Amino acid sequence: MLCHALSCLLSYASVGFALINFQLVVADSNVEQNAEKPHIIFILADDLGFDDVSFRGSNEFLTPNIDALAYHGKILERLYTPAICTPSRGALMTGRYPIHTGTQHFVISNEEPWGLPTNLTLMPEIFQKAGYSTNLVGKWHLGFAKREFTPTYRGFDNHYGYWGGFIDYYQRRSQMPLPHYSMGYDFYRNLELECADRGAYMTDLLTDEAERIIHANNNTKPLLLLLSHLAVHTGNANEPLQAPKEDIEKFNYIKDPNRRKYAAMVSRLDHSVGRVISALEAANMLKNSIVIFQSDNGGPSVGLFANSASNWPFKGQKNTAWEGGVRVAGAIWSPLIAQRRSLFRPTMYIGDWLPTLAAAANIPLDQTALRLDGLNLWPALSATANSANSANFTREIVHYLDDVWHVAALQQGDWKYVNGTTAAGRFSNVLTYRELYDTDPRSVDYFATVKNSNTSQVLQRYDDNELRRGHVNQLRNEATVDCGNGVQRGCNPLWEECLYNVAVDPCERNNLASLNEYKKILKRMRRRVQQYRDTAMPLANRRGSFEYSPSRHRCLWSNFLEDSPSEEFFVCGLYGMPCETATSVEGIKMEHT
Ligand SMILES: *[C@@H]1O[C@H](CO)[C@@H](O)[C@H](O)[C@H]1NC(C)=O
Ligand SMILES: *[C@@H]1O[C@H](CO)[C@@H](O)[C@H](O)[C@H]1NC(C)=O
Ligand SMILES: *[C@@H]1O[C@H](CO)[C@@H](O)[C@H](O)[C@H]1NC(C)=O
Ligand SMILES: *[C@@H]1O[C@H](CO)[C@@H](O)[C@H](O)[C@H]1NC(C)=O
Ligand SMILES: *[C@@H]1O[C@H](CO)[C@@H](O)[C@H](O)[C@H]1NC(C)=O
Repeated sequence: MLCHALSCLLSYASVGFALINFQLVVADSNVEQNAEKPHIIFILADDLGFDDVSFRGSNEFLTPNIDALAYHGKILERLYTPAICTPSRGALMTGRYPIHTGTQHFVISNEEPWGLPTNLTLMPEIFQKAGYSTNLVGKWHLGFAKREFTPTYRGFDNHYGYWGGFIDYYQRRSQMPLPHYSMGYDFYRNLELECADRGAYMTDLLTDEAERIIHANNNTKPLLLLLSHLAVHTGNANEPLQAPKEDIEKFNYIKDPNRRKYAAMVSRLDHSVGRVISALEAANMLKNSIVIFQSDNGGPSVGLFANSASNWPFKGQKNTAWEGGVRVAGAIWSPLIAQRRSLFRPTMYIGDWLPTLAAAANIPLDQTALRLDGLNLWPALSATANSANSANFTREIVHYLDDVWHVAALQQGDWKYVNGTTAAGRFSNVLTYRELYDTDPRSVDYFATVKNSNTSQVLQRYDDNELRRGHVNQLRNEATVDCGNGVQRGCNPLWEECLYNVAVDPCERNNLASLNEYKKILKRMRRRVQQYRDTAMPLANRRGSFEYSPSRHRCLWSNFLEDSPSEEFFVCGLYGMPCETATSVEGIKMEHT
């Protein structure tokens, strides 16, 4: 599409609206056939690297269930998210950019008294009103200082999990990387402290709960289930990477001990996907389900909360505006998608899920009140071959607009503008490589491993023909990222604006900003960033206080603005234990400054 600056932007916007309106019209005429609303099961991984699923070609450790979901469904080829947890989860919940939820700067650290602004309408509220059972299992990270910030006040019927950014995989406690704060226990069922099954491995425990919810539902009511895993975020500083010993042993061939543990963590996550698919089938729900798997942002390879993730071949990592921070692994499967076993190539944003899933469920949205930034991609995702291929409307994504750290990154179609960077540019390179020598023994017959996974065995029942070696090889090849030519023009966004064509240069190696022929695009995008800046909500961030340390609140991360402080120690029946600290945190500094 060739068009000029602002008129072009207007026409993108109207394409977006046309799609939404079209969908609503279609929806109305289909109400009777579609009376049964689809179950929606959203499996969100935390801090998973782009190259840490094997469907894009890595053989270091295999993820057969996730890969099977992708091959039987659709690989989300260009799926983008904000670069870090709170903004990303805010965008998922609201369909808006972080600048439109006040979460554009960093994350909610547990001791900070703020949350996702309560005047925003969230996805679970919308689905709850439409008759869905709405369930969050696992991580929230959108605030808990007051009860009104917590999941069951924001549209979830049920929450089982933790409110903050992360916990220990067994002990369910967390210590913020700040001096003087103690560990705090953070595990709840709705507003009640949840003590049962303490000591169980978190990835399995959350999957148990997901299975219970699916089993209890038994296809009686439309289900919205957000399984928001701890995996593969780090635990506390004393033991950042945690997995069952017998799982770690399966990856003894991986020499790097951190990467070995990480592989085991990913492997439990993969297992979780298989269990969820099997549970849905057992409850006879899969025939009317939409299952999504994705990461919330790029993996942190080094620095704060580093889990040894790999975003190869991209530059950067979590909390950077480079592709390694914002382009994530993801896939979708549903029998309601006509053309499965393919790549979905249009650019997609995590904020698209709200309008997309609402459209899939025939839930009309009040566009004026919601003021969504996300687009409804359901027509394109679910359509038959011809229309799916034509679904290439050039779209915009505000990847980063943080005026505290002075980072702005905007995408328009294939163009990506980057100005400023986090961590003084220390994470602006390719931080990992793809391991070619320590390979998973199962990769000798990759196809058989995928085919024999529980996920493939189950999903095969919904296909007209067998999944064959040729299909899998072809999809895996198509999903392999091609970096194009070598480094041509470098760019240091601390000093200059960078411009890339990420369709042909996904590894951001060829800065076009200084070339005359791209001056117009650069100018247009710079102006657009400024326009977006003018629409930003004020930062919702509030500073933490030592008054909010768990040591003042019974060793808990509690609704600390509403609970009266108490130094009486009580965690799940253990009285009189001082709130421990995970480790000396002297010298641990935030990595961004
Ligand atoms: C919510 O409150 C903020 C101020 O805190 C305001 O900027 C915003 O317009 C309000 N409403 C919505 C729907 O965002
Ligand atoms: C689930 O539903 C099926 C079919 O309606 C029924 O036969 C079965 O007993 C139910 N199972 C449970 C555990 O309620
Ligand atoms: C959209 O189509 C144009 C022209 O066919 C192509 O150059 C571009 O790469 C496509 N963009 C996406 C996001 O698929
Ligand atoms: C399939 O699921 C069963 C039951 O949960 C489990 O025992 C088995 O290990 C799984 N198979 C594979 C290949 O993951
Ligand atoms: C680019 O960064 C510089 C330095 O922080 C800043 O002065 C300028 O306003 C930024 N431009 C945009 C469009 O954000």
